[in-house]
Amino acid sequence: MERLQRLRAELKADVVIANGENVAAGNGITATLAKTLLGTGIDAITLGDHVWDQRGWEDDIDDLPTVCRPANLPESCPGARYVIVDVKGFKLGVFTVLGRTFMGMKAECPFLGADAVLKELEGKADGVLVEIHAEATSEKIALGWHLDGRAIAVLGTHTHVPTADACVLPKGTGFMCDVGMTGPYASVLGREVAPVIGRFLDGMPRRFEVAENDVRISAALVDYDEVAKRATEVRLITVRRGGGGR
Ligand SMILES: [Fe+2]
Repeated sequence: MERLQRLRAELKADVVIANGENVAAGNGITATLAKTLLGTGIDAITLGDHVWDQRGWEDDIDDLPTVCRPANLPESCPGARYVIVDVKGFKLGVFTVLGRTFMGMKAECPFLGADAVLKELEGKADGVLVEIHAEATSEKIALGWHLDGRAIAVLGTHTHVPTADACVLPKGTGFMCDVGMTGPYASVLGREVAPVIGRFLDGMPRRFEVAENDVRISAALVDYDEVAKRATEVRLITVRRGGGGR
């Protein structure tokens, strides 16, 4: 948390959005944890397929106005579908859509879902950041192109692995397939290595404890030109414990 506040100042970041779906020891989020994140330099929290992993969160999410659940979940689900953050007078809309390829959760079409939320945000937001929380790179890239010129950026999450494809699409939307995980990289997707290898070897169930070593912040930094109404740069940010490089 302390490192995030320093990083925010170093990068002169006007706004910080975090996906918090696994902050509760690798499974979901709680109200206490959400409030902690929001008190330490994060402006809004998005979520993913682990949104309902913590019991009671479904009762708490509506009390947190800067937290949104994936927008393309069924209408009956609790929680906001988007958040609007005031960034020095600029109204930034933020929402997440879940992918459907290789994903277990029941979700509506992310393409039509994103279209619907963007339409709803017309007149309410000056620009919109879209998160695609999905497994398949093809689905994420396709959504980036689908929203090119209509979103400030389309940024992917969920695979835990940052990708080397940060770019600005032709009509001005920043894109990155996956911004990576903030967590332990000496791991398999944040979990201790040995049980995961064991599971692959014999298929027997095991506890997958959260790993501890080589903790890094991984993020995407988007520069946006308000006058030209287009992203000018997207780049990967990596910070190792102890402050090593970006
Ligand atoms: Fe996920």
